[in-house]
Amino acid sequence: MKILGIETSCDETAASVVENGDTLLSNVVFSSMDLHVAYGGVVPEIAARSHIEAIIPVIKQALSDAKCTWDDIDGIAVTYGAGLGGSLLVGVLTARTLAITHHKPLYAINHVEGHVYANFLIKTSLPDYVLPAKQPKFPMLAVIVSGGHSQLALFQDHFDYTLLGQTRDDAIGEAFDKVAKILGLPYPGGPSVGKTAAEGDPFKYELPIAQLGPRTGVGIRQRIQHSDAVQGGAEERNESYRKVRRASTADANAAMRAVVESGKYDFSYSGLKTAVLRLAQHETGHDYTFPSTELSGALSDAQKADIAASFQRTAVKTIVDKAKLAYEEFAPASVVIAGGVAASPELRRQLSKALPLEIDYTDPKLCTDNGAMVATLGCFSAKYNRPTADPKTLDIAPNLSM
Ligand code: KG4
Ligand code: ZN
Repeated sequence: MKILGIETSCDETAASVVENGDTLLSNVVFSSMDLHVAYGGVVPEIAARSHIEAIIPVIKQALSDAKCTWDDIDGIAVTYGAGLGGSLLVGVLTARTLAITHHKPLYAINHVEGHVYANFLIKTSLPDYVLPAKQPKFPMLAVIVSGGHSQLALFQDHFDYTLLGQTRDDAIGEAFDKVAKILGLPYPGGPSVGKTAAEGDPFKYELPIAQLGPRTGVGIRQRIQHSDAVQGGAEERNESYRKVRRASTADANAAMRAVVESGKYDFSYSGLKTAVLRLAQHETGHDYTFPSTELSGALSDAQKADIAASFQRTAVKTIVDKAKLAYEEFAPASVVIAGGVAASPELRRQLSKALPLEIDYTDPKLCTDNGAMVATLGCFSAKYNRPTADPKTLDIAPNLSM
């Protein structure tokens, strides 16, 4: 089974063909990033216009790299949310048109769920990809870290997961991008902060890790996706997990809901970002009235490197501490990381050190936005007989959550 995946949720126009949910046949990514760098972030109108120009050549290239004609393609998968409205529209309308004209089933893919599925690719004949040796096993803990999301999700099986926690304000990638601006480093901030951090002392400054209380009021949302979310085959390694497993489905749901509502797996990055701003002001002898856009000119290279390194260590530790807590509570058989920040060598280093299991990380090229993750989830959608989307009506969902 071969699925064409199309991804246009942000600034990457991407298409890929994946076979059977485990084999990468092609992966074409065209980024309009160069057009956005001068603005310090993605400009939605520029991104949408660039998608219009790039989408057809990118899809043609993906089919040709995979040595496929339309006859070889069994279905089309497309990201319909979350993302920038204008960007999503280009991908979705293109996929709808192709599904109608080529008579293919259409699968609507949630971008964030798609990121997780990049980890299921284990084979390719494409050069320069280092893929895991085996597909992840369930129960699987997914650490999802991107420009728009910081989430921990516990998957009992395909299409059966509980969102344990998420960020209450900024995502980790957003924090990297904002800190890059303070330090005068180029966008996107993840790679540029990482590079500068390599020259600095990660223990030079102590920065805060947010301590969060329970979710309250309207902030409490039902996140349990399936009634049997906590049943099934994990090794029973601790009392909390055994307790949840022994319980009836209703009790299990309530127990899971209590875990989610306790907020113990939630994140917050706005305080850390402000702490970096105050630190930069303090180090340069300015007070909070000094324009943040002028701070980078007053910082020495050594100061920038130490701030970048201390920030990166703390931002990553925030994620790793919660992932460790979830690992200890739920004893998953595998742990995967997903999303743009999953390309971070520091995250990989800290997570591997913190957890007692071997993590087989995927290629960094499959962590940032791409069509392969969408095509892979499309393969599993077809395999598990998930409902197809109507190519005449599928709409975008810019605020889609997991
Ligand atoms: O998943 P992604 O490509 O787009 C979203 O869905 O948001 O993630 C983009 C984010 C940006 O914030 C970028 O700074 C970050 O991923 N990023 C990295 C690295 N590469 C990209 N963060 C840390 N280290 C990297 N190597
Ligand atoms: Zn993404």
